[in-house]
Amino acid sequence: MQPPRVVLGVSGGIAAYKAAELCRAFVREGFEVHPVLTRGAREFVSPLTFAVLSGREVPTEVWGDRHSPAVLHVELADATDLLVVAPATAHTLARFAHGLADDFLTTYFLSHRGPVLVAPAMESAMWAHPAVRANCDLLAARGARFVGPASGFLASGHEGVGRMAEPEEILAAARALLARTPASRDMERLRILVTAGPTREPVDPVRFLSNRSSGRMGYALAEAARDRGAAVTLLSGPTGLPAPPGVRFASFETSADLHGLLVREFPECDALAMAAAVADFIPEASAERLHRQDGDATLRLAAGRDVLASLRPLKREQVVIAFAAETEDLERRGAAKRDAKGADLIVINDVGRGDIGFESPDNEVVILAKGEPARVVSRRPKREVADAIWDAFLKARPEAVAARELSGAPESRR
Ligand code: CTP
Repeated sequence: MQPPRVVLGVSGGIAAYKAAELCRAFVREGFEVHPVLTRGAREFVSPLTFAVLSGREVPTEVWGDRHSPAVLHVELADATDLLVVAPATAHTLARFAHGLADDFLTTYFLSHRGPVLVAPAMESAMWAHPAVRANCDLLAARGARFVGPASGFLASGHEGVGRMAEPEEILAAARALLARTPASRDMERLRILVTAGPTREPVDPVRFLSNRSSGRMGYALAEAARDRGAAVTLLSGPTGLPAPPGVRFASFETSADLHGLLVREFPECDALAMAAAVADFIPEASAERLHRQDGDATLRLAAGRDVLASLRPLKREQVVIAFAAETEDLERRGAAKRDAKGADLIVINDVGRGDIGFESPDNEVVILAKGEPARVVSRRPKREVADAIWDAFLKARPEAVAARELSGAPESRR
């Protein structure tokens, strides 16, 4: 079997030095790597580094660096399995989004026909800029996959979202992308609503009650559904995670905010995955700040609304996926909760275990669909758990949803 062929595009950011490590990791894994550097990248790293690591020439310009016919980008595209761009700067993302072809990488991008994986790296303010957001959304809508950026220390000394994903993570995403077949765009035309992260309920103007939900499971569900072709809306509580490209996004703080968003969005979706960790108790908030000097204070907690159960009157053919965090008697309690909340499936998390759930990148769950035996999803990255949950959803969805999918009824609001 031919080794998979990867074109590794490197654009001009400080993370370009890490692209050398990525190049080496691809070679070590048996990939045939063709590095391509932009002019900006050459300011940070030498083409020679990549030439030595890959054993290939490293083009930058499209019209041949050596009086050769300028068709290498076409030849390369004929047999390349994957284009990986790491780091992808704001400028390179913009050139991809708008089809500019002013160097080898951007010209190659337009000739490339396989999957594209981009690992953005830039300052947080640039990543948050509407122009960058719009370019990323455009690329995601056309099928590009994103890995990162992560949060952490940036070249400027600031801390925030914008660090390039680590080479090992990019390699794993590349492997996953190559393993995927076109048949896995099996959620096309479905409108998926996902809630994620914790709620925050104010105690006074400066304090709140919240919980340990990181939002990771919900974000993984949103990304997995997007990659399988669905039109996804993600409603998120406060998390440290960047809004995924190619997903409609709205944020909430309190459970009342979340309820308001759901009342508007739920009637228009085909499935709701309710992964948000919603407050069960709402503190009686003080309008003024509580002061230590005033001595002990008592907080009165009122039982909050069960947001999911409150949507029952709006439910028609939507498939509802509830999430249960339990510490004991998982299946019995989970099934009872599913039925009490009018859900079709429930995903049960064992929160008694410290090694999975909440902040962990991995999860292990039990999926209980009505009338089906329990399905145990053994420990794996949350993204793979998300795919297992969507597989269970596809099996459980009612005929009406399946029929709309087949009929090609237009998607709303992509
Ligand atoms: N949920 C909700 N509103 C709440 C609490 C939970 O909509 N006030 C949703 C969650 O998003 C989840 C499901 O209900 O999908 C189950 O959440 P869980 O916290 O396990 O259940 P609770 O209803 O809080 O039950 P208990 O705490 O008594 O176990």
